[in-house]
Amino acid sequence: MGKNILLGITGGIAAYKAASLASSLSKKGHSVFPVMTASACEFISPLTFRTLTNNPVEVDMFTPPERHEVKHISLADKADLAIIAPATANFMAKLARGIADDLLSTIIMATRAKVLIAPAMNVNMYQDASFQKNLAILQERGFTIIEPESGPLACGYEGKGRMVEPEILARKALASLTVKDLADLSFLITAGPTREPLDPVRYLSNYSSGKMGYALAERAVARGAEVTLISGPTALSPVGGAENILIEKAAEMQKAVRKELAQHDIIIMAAAVSDFRPHSIKEEKIKKDQQKLTELELERNPDILTEVQKLKNSNQVLVGFAAESSDILVKGREKYQRKKPEILVVNDISQQEIGFQADSNAGWLLVQDEEIKISQRSKVAFAEVILDEIKQHTISRGG
Ligand code: C5P
Repeated sequence: MGKNILLGITGGIAAYKAASLASSLSKKGHSVFPVMTASACEFISPLTFRTLTNNPVEVDMFTPPERHEVKHISLADKADLAIIAPATANFMAKLARGIADDLLSTIIMATRAKVLIAPAMNVNMYQDASFQKNLAILQERGFTIIEPESGPLACGYEGKGRMVEPEILARKALASLTVKDLADLSFLITAGPTREPLDPVRYLSNYSSGKMGYALAERAVARGAEVTLISGPTALSPVGGAENILIEKAAEMQKAVRKELAQHDIIIMAAAVSDFRPHSIKEEKIKKDQQKLTELELERNPDILTEVQKLKNSNQVLVGFAAESSDILVKGREKYQRKKPEILVVNDISQQEIGFQADSNAGWLLVQDEEIKISQRSKVAFAEVILDEIKQHTISRGG
């Protein structure tokens, strides 16, 4: 369900980044209520935020509200979360010292919601002793500071002071809104394809995008779990908050899984591991001087899931995936019995919009004798259902 997010924008050049933060939080189904300081309006127009959020943008303490209400109190009360991005040194100083002389500072003082603060300023201002003192006061009072990054600054300086990118802010905001119901669980997740080299420039692989495994890792992190992601090559960025281990070959994935296995409660094998690899990797690039290439000999790769099933202890929960394009349930059942994970996710890959590279998924969860149908939804929403089932499973086993 969508939450109410108060987005405070203060006067810095990074205010333009707040627009894409507002947009991505709105797109995720949350109601974003922008509140701008007068100097923020010098950098970016309130109209931008009104258009992106579909909500009125508040700037002034004294313009009458649409309904009869005390504006700063009603905004403070309805917020499930507040984010100040960018937060200037001046605004943070006011907050630290209890000065409430405009609408935003008043709201933040009045709200009981969690407040995330993303500072943005010149490196010398950031390092200034009085600013550092204010920062420490805010941290001590329970404000969550999202530390700026180092890099080239708009003022021409180089150093710490760049506001973190809006995607990272959005992720942190969403994580703050999520109940940490997986906080005492540790996950090992495999994702993506593997690549099996043929020669120095070619490989055998498959169309796996890694999106399902990454969605599982992201949602598990957001729900408080400790996550290690072992991934084959994908176009996706590493999952923030997780340990990301990148591999290429199935043998490397097997080695990484073996090393990690004992440290995790839940093992989800969402990777599309290549079933075969070339028997030998040619040292030289294979030449095209023949009409047919017949000497390509392949051998079976290890089945990592089957190995994990044998090595794991009885408290560890193993979740496997099966991608099927016909007789989905029958083939899924057969695989469930043969590979014996606790849960098998059976994916229907017969249609393009829910296939390998798609953003959506649909299928079934097999848990003992039960078959739970999951209708078509985004891979992120699909991941939530899988995690809910895993949680249920761990609870019912007394874990
Ligand atoms: O038998 P199939 O390849 O369809 O099984 C899919 C499941 O087994 C997935 O969970 C996949 O990650 C895992 N698997 C594996 N090692 C292989 C092949 C598949 O771990 N070599």
